[in-house]
Amino acid sequence: MKNKRRILFVVWSLFMAFPAWLFAQNAAAPAASGSTDDTNLVKWLIIVAAVIIVVAVLALFKALNSMLKIQEINALRELGMEEAAQKLAAERKVSWWRRMMERWTDAVPIEQEKDVLFDHDYDGIQELDNKLPPWWLALFYITIAFAVVYIFYYHLSGMGMSSQEMYAQEMKQAEAAVAEYKATHGSGLDETNVTLAEDETALSIGETVYKTNCVPCHGGQGEGGIGPNLTDKYWIHGGSIQNVFKVIKDGVPEKGMLAWKDQLKAEQIQAVASYILVKLQGTNPPNAKEPQGELYEPEETAAPDAENTPEAESDGGE
Ligand code: HEC
Repeated sequence: MKNKRRILFVVWSLFMAFPAWLFAQNAAAPAASGSTDDTNLVKWLIIVAAVIIVVAVLALFKALNSMLKIQEINALRELGMEEAAQKLAAERKVSWWRRMMERWTDAVPIEQEKDVLFDHDYDGIQELDNKLPPWWLALFYITIAFAVVYIFYYHLSGMGMSSQEMYAQEMKQAEAAVAEYKATHGSGLDETNVTLAEDETALSIGETVYKTNCVPCHGGQGEGGIGPNLTDKYWIHGGSIQNVFKVIKDGVPEKGMLAWKDQLKAEQIQAVASYILVKLQGTNPPNAKEPQGELYEPEETAAPDAENTPEAESDGGE
């Protein structure tokens, strides 16, 4: 009877744990290819959940087991088999848990404490000559073994990495990730953090970019043509460096203004936008196209958009 229950319990807990184990396998699979912290976290959460389930089932079985026992004892009593009932009850008392506790604490029962009492007495405080609890001793030996392995692995064999080496490696990985990001996304310069480039090098780069790409539609001097006049103070999409950068980067495809983000690097867009604002604006060339859009006043429009000001963004730079 008892053995049958035990077998049932083991089968049942394996049955419960199996789907969780499968789940963990599935969650771990993408971690092998992508190796993200997220999938690892999910994997561990599932493992922890599986352990909790197994422990819960264990507790349930134990409760069920003792309920059945109590019923058995009561049934025996009702049948008048007092001796058998008592034997079962005694068996029940020395539970598995109790036996484990005794083995791992090795404590002297209170009734026998007299035998291990030292014969000194300090102001009524006495001392027992108990053995070291095995659980504690085991931990102690484990820590010693751990220390030996640890020292060998990290300090003698050269296999384990020290914290400094780990830090250096992680920094290297991060640098590689930044380099990769820059290679695919440019330098991270965009309309949220772009500033007006006023140095001559940038402005001459801007001029070259303008002369090569923009003249057919905006005119050799920015006077306008198919595209609007870029020398006046009127702007359809706003006249701040951020606005101009964005319109060049993303374009206005439905109105015939190309998006230049694939042809030009962010720095080149910054340069040409700066060239327009610093060198072309206010030049009043002949044959200028009539103003389009709204008059742009730098003080008014720039202020409310505090997030886009270069100062606010400066700490987010490289
Ligand atoms: C194929 C023609 C064409 C080319 C080439 C072109 N643009 Fe434009 N651009 C336009 C048109 C059309 C508009 C007006 C869009 C609208 O009405 O919204 C415009 C709008 C703009 C604006 C916004 C003007 C405003 O009032 O807000 C800027 C800035 C600008 N272009 C810069 C450039 C720069 C810099 C280049 C070169 C890298 C360039 N464009 C190349 C056609 C062109």
